[in-house]
Amino acid sequence: MAEDRLLLTGNVLSFDDDPAANPDAVTWIESGAVLVEDGKIAWVGRRAELPGHLAAGASTHTYGREIILPGFIDAHVHYPQIGVIASYGAQLLEWLEAYTFPEEARFADPDHAASMARLFLDLLLAAGTTTAAVYCTVHPESVTAFFEESEVRGLRMIAGKVLMDRNAPDAVRDSAASGYDDSRALIETWHGRERSLYAVTPRFAPTSTPAQLEACAALLGAFPDVYMQTHLSENLDEIRWVRELFPKARSYLDVYRGFGLLGPRSLFGHAIHMDEDDLGLAASSRSRFVHCPTSNLFMGSGLFDIARTRAAGVPVLLGSDVGGGSSLSPFATMKAAYEIAQLNGRTLAPEEAFWLSTAGAADALSLGDRIGRIAPGFEADMTVLDPESTPIIGQRVERAESLRDLLFAQIVLADDRAIRATYAGGRKVHERR
Ligand code: GUN
Ligand code: ZN
Repeated sequence: MAEDRLLLTGNVLSFDDDPAANPDAVTWIESGAVLVEDGKIAWVGRRAELPGHLAAGASTHTYGREIILPGFIDAHVHYPQIGVIASYGAQLLEWLEAYTFPEEARFADPDHAASMARLFLDLLLAAGTTTAAVYCTVHPESVTAFFEESEVRGLRMIAGKVLMDRNAPDAVRDSAASGYDDSRALIETWHGRERSLYAVTPRFAPTSTPAQLEACAALLGAFPDVYMQTHLSENLDEIRWVRELFPKARSYLDVYRGFGLLGPRSLFGHAIHMDEDDLGLAASSRSRFVHCPTSNLFMGSGLFDIARTRAAGVPVLLGSDVGGGSSLSPFATMKAAYEIAQLNGRTLAPEEAFWLSTAGAADALSLGDRIGRIAPGFEADMTVLDPESTPIIGQRVERAESLRDLLFAQIVLADDRAIRATYAGGRKVHERR
């Protein structure tokens, strides 16, 4: 049960708008307080200014130097791949065959799915992440297990059953008809139930027949407020394969366009190798790209140009892409995004990276009025960050001259040890031991 009224005290940080466009949109409250009522934020401000009648009777969680910030949002992650994280020596297509498909086959077993969903969610919350866009496997049981575990914890999660009806082993394949029927039944059960939201999830163009991609579009037509998530232009061999399978399409993105899968609720993972026409098509259709930097480095996929993509008018979110990605920690994701920006001859400001991981992602998910900010009326999903969690971070933060310095030290040096606690819907769902 949610604690009715909860008072958190500490420093408060929230990025309310894109810092590149609006540098004043950062909320930083020294010695602040956040009052939570019935799972939502009721009051935010300086602790000294909190009216006594509001504080009365609230159960108080006192933090000192810690920073209370919105829970992080991971916009692309595969919960069934936790077991194959850190698998050696392969690029995308070989990695799928050698490690991923055999592991995903095990999720036909509801007990295995439930135990991995529990493990995944515990790890995600320990990393400070409270919302994710999650790929399950082809088995509907894997989705049921995921949403059951997420609902128990009161989390706002987006997830869906992978659809794949060709070019994969029998144990991880559906058909156009069963993929449609199973997805439809899952949407009817889960989409909008408590805090769960559904994403129609064709794995990627090579593992779906045209009939299946049409079925995905039919689902989006029948349920206009569900999401769509898939992979796009991650790896050069993958792109060549798509060209062979869909010879009439101008590009990989054009395959998805031809089936009606572009739009403001569509999340395309990776999107590394894109020409100007593709970027124009993504922008005009208001599609979203999810940058998965640790995965792109780990699998040698390429260097996504976040600055070029955003300048073209395509909203970008950040994802861990575990198990292709090498960490669930948003710090690892932001650090790799910074390093890839450097390799592209660009940069990524720390406050920008935090915004992309919180309110910016919420906005891109059309959830910007509910999560991603610490403000009255918002769902109380928060993480409590210890800015001096290790000696090396402590000595660096002592020299920090600005919030930017402090945040950058976290991006470069922090990990789960910096996450003191995580709250979702006003309930403490993780505490660091
Ligand atoms: N492309 C198709 N499936 C996958 C997957 O599971 N992980 C990654 N990184 N890319 C994919
Ligand atoms: Zn992925």
